[in-house]
Amino acid sequence: MFVTVFLLLVTLCAQGGNGEEREEAQRPGHVSVVIVGGTGDLAKKYLWQGFFELYVNQVKSGYTFSFYGGGLSPADKATPVLFEILKAVSCPKDVSQERCALLKEQFLRLSQYRQLQSVEDYQDLAKHIEKELQQEGMTEAGRLFYLSVPAFAYADIADKINSSCRPTSGAWLRVVLEKPFGHDFRSAQVLASQLGNSLKDEEMYRIDHYLGKQVVSRILPFREENKKLLDPIWNRHHIERVEIVLKETLDVKGRIPFYDQYGVVRDVLQNHMTEVMTLLTMSLPMNLSSNEEVLRNKLQVFRSLLPVGKDQAVVGQYQAYKTEVQQELNKTKDHISITPTFAAVLTYIDEAQYEGVPILLISGKMLDERVGYARILFKNDIFCLQNHNSVHCKPKQIVFHFGHGSLKYPAILVSKNLFKPVLMDSAWKEVTEHKDVDVLGLPLSDYYVQTPIEQREAYYELISHIFAGRKNSFISTENLLASWGLWTPLLSSLASTFPRIYPGGAENGDLLDVHIKGKDISYHNEVVIISNDQIGGGFQVMQGKFRSSDMVSAWTEELVVRLAADIQEAAEAAVREGGVFHLALSGGSSPLALFHRLALHHFSFPWRDTHVWMVDERCVPLTDSESNFRNLHDHLLHHVRIPYYNIHPMPVQINQRLCVEEDGGALLYEKEVNKWVNGSSFHFVLLGVGYDSHTASLFPGSKVDDHGESLVALTESPIKPHQRMSLTFSAINRAHRVALLVMGKGKHELITQLSRVKDNPDKWPVTGVKPANGRLVWYIDYDALLG
Ligand code: BG6
Repeated sequence: MFVTVFLLLVTLCAQGGNGEEREEAQRPGHVSVVIVGGTGDLAKKYLWQGFFELYVNQVKSGYTFSFYGGGLSPADKATPVLFEILKAVSCPKDVSQERCALLKEQFLRLSQYRQLQSVEDYQDLAKHIEKELQQEGMTEAGRLFYLSVPAFAYADIADKINSSCRPTSGAWLRVVLEKPFGHDFRSAQVLASQLGNSLKDEEMYRIDHYLGKQVVSRILPFREENKKLLDPIWNRHHIERVEIVLKETLDVKGRIPFYDQYGVVRDVLQNHMTEVMTLLTMSLPMNLSSNEEVLRNKLQVFRSLLPVGKDQAVVGQYQAYKTEVQQELNKTKDHISITPTFAAVLTYIDEAQYEGVPILLISGKMLDERVGYARILFKNDIFCLQNHNSVHCKPKQIVFHFGHGSLKYPAILVSKNLFKPVLMDSAWKEVTEHKDVDVLGLPLSDYYVQTPIEQREAYYELISHIFAGRKNSFISTENLLASWGLWTPLLSSLASTFPRIYPGGAENGDLLDVHIKGKDISYHNEVVIISNDQIGGGFQVMQGKFRSSDMVSAWTEELVVRLAADIQEAAEAAVREGGVFHLALSGGSSPLALFHRLALHHFSFPWRDTHVWMVDERCVPLTDSESNFRNLHDHLLHHVRIPYYNIHPMPVQINQRLCVEEDGGALLYEKEVNKWVNGSSFHFVLLGVGYDSHTASLFPGSKVDDHGESLVALTESPIKPHQRMSLTFSAINRAHRVALLVMGKGKHELITQLSRVKDNPDKWPVTGVKPANGRLVWYIDYDALLG
């Protein structure tokens, strides 16, 4: 069978040109395409059609193909199912009927079902491919595995591919994966490292189908082609705001088991909408087709984004969702879910170019219309006294219209009072005949409109990009983790947020309108919502005593609000009295929420007169993601206006080596403290406590007395990175004020123990914190206090 088909293919190639071309074209070799999950929904809806189109387009290129639909069912059961799907594929418009019939027949013959369950199944597949290559005397170009299966199966399948189905040397391996790629930073990292055990990064093609949408993939080329016109206005002086919107009319019936675990933020904001945001705001690469440069510039956007917290998001849930969940998950009538089906999120990029420009990402199910777009709304500084319909009085905007909506087709629209865009892509055309339709407040005739000559399904575009190895259209591991890094803190804070319930469709009225106020977003209309967390009345802050010092306790958020306010108060008092505030901050994850709070809410904080010191540091370069300074920089310093010379990182790297005793880093820091800080007494020291009760980098078992009068010491941690630099108890206990921040259920056991033990800094280092003339306050959240 294979021989016949191969011959046919050669005949077709010959029809396409002269012999020389054919020889040239045949050099590329043989490609095996394996769709694992080949009879599933996605395969049926898009993948087989996409691969058929690839086949049709490549038939003259000299490549030869075989296609395998893989699945868990035995071949006798699944083969007829597969062939029903394959029979339904259709040819592109420009292929004649006769040729189409021939191509389809070949495609069917080149395809087969294979059970792919055990390692042996994968070994058999590999043997089968190799045998056919040998029989036909063909060289192998590559193997493409499309994993259209639930994500929990990825690692196992990748492992089987790696151990038994890699192509012969010189040929490529491409493994295509569909989201979800984890449900938060941690799980995405775990999945990435599991996959990394079997596949190289360049072998993984993570799909985000938005990158295959014609308008989305034209964002960068459009920016490049119109660079001269856009450069002067693509900045905070001209852009009023950016909106990235995906409105859907459908509900999630039938997908609840998946959706209820994910919600709208994970389902579309973390991926599709974030990708669009980075394409709109990244620096234009010199070379659009350089994967490295595009990735580098994208990652820079993630680094510059202000943290997104609870105050930067509002969430909603359509009314019928609750009942759908009860039905699909077999729950009783009193079961409620707080998974959001609607979210509006506000972000800012902390770069001079975009400073203060709100970027809104909004998406929801059961809204009034189906439409997707990104709009750059420009400031209009013209005041129209009389004729508001004059073109110069109207909104100035660029709309990347992904599809649907009143316009119904994908297009890029530039309002005529901005400029006339260049059109360099021959696959696109200008629309000059305008229907009577409005797009985002302007009649179509007020725009210059470009649209693709032929509309292409995103999946088909991406399949051709996989084949061409165009990695820019896919999500790299770094990109993925950077995006989860942005969304994970918000997701954690939303875990107890009750969404606003909306009726669905046109009836939503103005219920979901949002209001941007400074760096925060809220619903425009206040409605009274009774929510779980409000019922508990748990917003109070409690004062008490812990280990005979003062204690403040509250739910996490309130606690952080209180601590930030206390720090600001201390800062203002110190600046009033002495013109300067010396603040020493520790590392770890507990202070991150505090950093965000300070960065996003304390605009009147006297940063100009504040010196920031480190409580401790890991002996890694300051740019390393493990570095406490790096964390402090990324989450706080980078977002506030603090003079460069007021920042005092610990000198862990001297003479191009890390924390070597004779390089004298600890002494150097001590001298710096002596030089700047009156009496070496910091105004405020923020400490945390580890599970083993270490504080700063003073660990159990380290002979604290050995530090003597030194203010700074090199220490050893039982966990990696082992080497640390730390303030000593001498330094800490000279401070005017020390705050000990303890948060999370995980610390409950420790707090219970600490409430009982006597002071013994060798065994329980935190008990060595005893400011001689200052005040110690414990900030313990209810989770840590009550368990
Ligand atoms: C998918 C989401 O990734 O994107 C769906 O899982 C959503 O919930 C869809 O409906 C939107 O894609 P499109 O192409 O219809 O805008």
